[in-house]
Amino acid sequence: MKAYFGRRYMLSASHRLYAAGLSEEENRAAYGKCNNPHGHGHNYFVEVLVGGKVHDETGMVMNLVELDAAVGARVVDRFDHSNLNLDPLFVNLVPTTENLCRAVFGLLKEALPVGMLDRVRVEETENNFFECCAE
Ligand code: NI
Repeated sequence: MKAYFGRRYMLSASHRLYAAGLSEEENRAAYGKCNNPHGHGHNYFVEVLVGGKVHDETGMVMNLVELDAAVGARVVDRFDHSNLNLDPLFVNLVPTTENLCRAVFGLLKEALPVGMLDRVRVEETENNFFECCAE
């Protein structure tokens, strides 16, 4: 039987939503206030769900300390108090929270044991959240 372990992290970052392939008018229509040239910030909540067998001896799916270390090194240290638009991952990718969620999923998939990362959920505001799942 597979069991799941989820943990929640917080990071603050700024972004400006702007697609290079769209005109100024199309950008304003697509992103509204989020297209403001000065950007704006969010306190993002990042939830990470890992799944696997419960280890016979430890009784755990995954050691919380190892998960914290991976998320800290790959995600929080990278994005916290940053301008997402300046991150190499977003040079050619609009830093929407959909794309942030995909980026976090990719970074963690590389860092965690094969097959363990099940889902990443990013809350952008009280009302918005985005999820990426293992395919
Ligand atoms: Ni925003």
